[in-house]
Amino acid sequence: MARHLITSAIPYINGIKHLGNLVGSQLPADLFARYQRGRGNEVLFLCATDEHGTPAELAAAKAGKPIADYCTEMHDVQAKIADGFRLSFDHFGRSSSPENHALTQHFAGVLADRGLIREVVENQMYSKADGRFLPDRYIEGTCPNCGFESARGDQCDNCTKQLDPVDLLNPHSTISGSTDLEMRETKHLYLCQSQMKDELEAWIDSKADWPILTTSIAKKWLNDGDGLKDRGITRDLDWGIPVKKGTEDWPGMEGKVFYVWFDAPIEYIACAKEWVDTGKGTDWQRWWRTDKGADDVRYTQFMGKDNVPFHTLSFPATILGSGEPWKLVDYIKSFNYLNYDGGQFSTSRGRGVFMDQALEILPADYWRWWLLSHAPESSDAEFTWENFQQSVNKDLADVLGNFVSRVTKFCRSKFGEKVPSGGTFGETEQALIEELTTRTRAYEAHMEAMEVRKSAQELRAIWVAGNEYLQNAAPWSTFKEDPDKAAAQIRLALSLIRFYAVLSAPFIPDAKDALLTAMQTDNDAWPDDVPAALAALPPGHAFTVPDVTFRKITDAEREDWQERFAGTRD
Ligand code: MF3
Ligand code: ZN
Repeated sequence: MARHLITSAIPYINGIKHLGNLVGSQLPADLFARYQRGRGNEVLFLCATDEHGTPAELAAAKAGKPIADYCTEMHDVQAKIADGFRLSFDHFGRSSSPENHALTQHFAGVLADRGLIREVVENQMYSKADGRFLPDRYIEGTCPNCGFESARGDQCDNCTKQLDPVDLLNPHSTISGSTDLEMRETKHLYLCQSQMKDELEAWIDSKADWPILTTSIAKKWLNDGDGLKDRGITRDLDWGIPVKKGTEDWPGMEGKVFYVWFDAPIEYIACAKEWVDTGKGTDWQRWWRTDKGADDVRYTQFMGKDNVPFHTLSFPATILGSGEPWKLVDYIKSFNYLNYDGGQFSTSRGRGVFMDQALEILPADYWRWWLLSHAPESSDAEFTWENFQQSVNKDLADVLGNFVSRVTKFCRSKFGEKVPSGGTFGETEQALIEELTTRTRAYEAHMEAMEVRKSAQELRAIWVAGNEYLQNAAPWSTFKEDPDKAAAQIRLALSLIRFYAVLSAPFIPDAKDALLTAMQTDNDAWPDDVPAALAALPPGHAFTVPDVTFRKITDAEREDWQERFAGTRD
């Protein structure tokens, strides 16, 4: 049995994520986790909320709540929505957990002991009106690169250039709006990534099988000199993980916290510890320490392309720099962006469909199918309501749903609600079984390779093959001359429903449950042997005709939703 550690980029705590966020990390990670579990492998699938940094503080202030309370509430909100989408995390943790505090401070301590952290006295923007320093998003001004007027201290949203607050032209405080700012000296810790450039480069070069999207971004940052500058890992903020050297105070760093991008990836590890501390698991080191059994773990990370530099360079610098036997990532699956109806999804502008809204309209499977079958893998993708309606109506309602309904209803009317006996499989049946065997193996290969769109296409082709068989075999006509032959045809078709439920489960888990319930079986074994799987329901086995598996989206609904989501929400 293989062992898979799987993590999704941990979403920021502020606000509910949109469908573009979902399809770029949590959803494909869930697809892979469900597939690996379905194959009988051991899986630890982790995600968490990313709770520190200025975005969290600003959102809490806007909501008028103490930051700790705000984070607790939003964690619960995100956890509920994740459940709604059937994201099957073994644990959904929090980067603000005591486990992550201790582990982040531990890493800082060992990195310092190994000479990889230096203290730097630098000038940062200080606001007299606010009585504090203004890191990252607490300051805005004009981008020195492109002239965009609302560039933030850490990054320009217009040209995506990473910035330093002191680079901004005409800066102001986003707390008070004050422009009465001055440079003041403050001490910070820097992680000496530049010293690790060769080691990181060799490590990335050894990953010949990684997606081009992942390696090209990593290489660009390595060679720009931009990504491997030594990086400040502390901030003058109240909310965050206090700067400590292991469990000891760090002289001169009192009142400062670690930078959110330093502690967030460490939460991948701390989350496994939380999984144990909450009583769900028993041994987290078996997944994370190569000296404690993790050497045979395969670790896969899922994320949007904007996260790639932090996962290919910064976090590995923390791990490698520690000199301790932590598990390094084996494969990084990254995604392009999903656009929304001719523009971009935008959290700050509330544009697009957000996860909670999506579930108010339709159940999870509808969204999961569209999003995964249109995952932005080789390029950016676009959500349009027309395309969504078309995919749901064709793939889910016509191809899969209709097959289930025709087969079960026909059987009920001619043979009753049990698998009919009599007849034998002929050439057409053998040909179908052969085609399904070939296609199932192709589907498995795409799923193993995390080729999400290709997997969806193959799964759809598997559904189509059953439909075409039914169309050609036409048991409703056969029945008139040769009821035994019709019985054999329907027996095969009923078995196909169970077979589809199992194969489709990683994409549409609720449909799997509904179909297995209708077929009155809890046999969800993966079809390693396709002919055997297609004989799993013996003659006489009772079933029930399920309710509509997937309904169609009407034109009126589509127009209504298009209109409803055209504007923005606050
Ligand atoms: N919160 C970040 C985002 O949504 C992702 C953090 S991933 C981690 O873009 F590695 F830092 F954990
Ligand atoms: Zn810019």
